[in-house]
Amino acid sequence: VAVDIYKGLVRPLLFSGLKTDPEWLHKTTLQWLGSLNEQRGSAAMTLLRKQIQQRCSYAESRLNQSCFGLQFPNPVGLAAGFDKDGAAAGLWSDFGFGFAEMGTVTWHAQAGNPQPRLFRLIEDEAVLNRMGFNNLGAQALAARLRKVNAQAHPGSEPSSQVSQAQTASAAPLGINLGKSKITPLDQAVEDYCASFEVLKDLGDYFVVNVSSPNTPGLRQLQAAEQLTPILAGLQTLNTERRPLLLKIAPDLSDADIAAIVEVALAQKLAGIIATNTTIDRSNLKTQRLVATGNLVADEAGGLSGAPLRQRSTEVIRFIHRETQGKLPIVGVGGVASAADAWDKITAGASLVQLYSGWVYEGPEMMRHLLKGLAERLAQEGFSGIDEAVGTANGSH
Ligand SMILES: Cc1cc2nc3c(=O)[nH]c(=O)nc-3n(C[C@H](O)[C@H](O)[C@H](O)COP(=O)(O)O)c2cc1C
Repeated sequence: VAVDIYKGLVRPLLFSGLKTDPEWLHKTTLQWLGSLNEQRGSAAMTLLRKQIQQRCSYAESRLNQSCFGLQFPNPVGLAAGFDKDGAAAGLWSDFGFGFAEMGTVTWHAQAGNPQPRLFRLIEDEAVLNRMGFNNLGAQALAARLRKVNAQAHPGSEPSSQVSQAQTASAAPLGINLGKSKITPLDQAVEDYCASFEVLKDLGDYFVVNVSSPNTPGLRQLQAAEQLTPILAGLQTLNTERRPLLLKIAPDLSDADIAAIVEVALAQKLAGIIATNTTIDRSNLKTQRLVATGNLVADEAGGLSGAPLRQRSTEVIRFIHRETQGKLPIVGVGGVASAADAWDKITAGASLVQLYSGWVYEGPEMMRHLLKGLAERLAQEGFSGIDEAVGTANGSH
């Protein structure tokens, strides 16, 4: 058995030994990835990227997935929030991800909530965050993505998007849109639309995020009467019919979810992303946050990772049953292994995303996860992911 250097050495050192501040570590990692991205043309970087690919990624045609008109090299993507400003856009497939979601980005650049705002709950393999959409704004992301595209395709139109046709094996890029904190809720439509307008040629799919617990009032926009004008406004601007998805919270009742699904179908959404982080604090081993000394139950923020796993799978199953599998679902919440991804897929997810699991399991986890997923497909006699989607829910 190969020694897992990350889990055996690096993680204990960073998390427990040095007690590194989670936000500092995240920032440092992204800076490193950003500089790797900047120098992607150099011989040294090409070599390094090859090595990263060898250690972190895994390709097999059985894992290819096709969903809302896009081709995915594998069904496991990087969830929103890790690379809010697209610092490492174009690099995520090196780490094994079949797609990556940039953002959440808002129309106005914003600093987010005061620090500390990102916490590890190590015993629970969980993360608590109340970042509050810290990001450089939609226009900065647009400029960043144009630059990445130009680097990847020198000589092509500077403003043209790296379309799937140009890069058949590429991992699709999603862009997750949120509402600026300073924009009142009754002007949410204009805020989302302004971001979409400047970004709409630069993403393969788009996500409307109305489910973060860290922007006051945001989750109220999940109500049908608030949601409809936002989605309708975006679809009017969406002349090229880019897939538009909605990301929902895990803390909704079945009735709320059913109402959202109806709106999604009426507005011809490409799918639902289930789920964002939870405000639930039950069944945690961690009682107090070391960084603040406060009870976890008293700390604001959204919880992700292992404690969210089961609930997000339930939401996926509910949506799949409610729609008889007709609306694609991107399953996210607590995925850290092939078995976790399998549970989400067989509950009804056509694609899966993760964030916290990558932090806990380390950069080589995607290779293990994808290999495990391919093995599971083979064991079950399935030739592709699509054959497994929703199979744990019985026939409809
Ligand atoms: C630090 C942090 C920041 C996040 N920021 C965003 C965000 O900006 N937009 C969003 O839609 N989701 C955000 N998320 C939620 C994740 O995309 C994902 O839905 C959630 O963490 C559950 O997945 P996981 O258990 O694999 O982490 C964030 C999660 C974390 C841990």
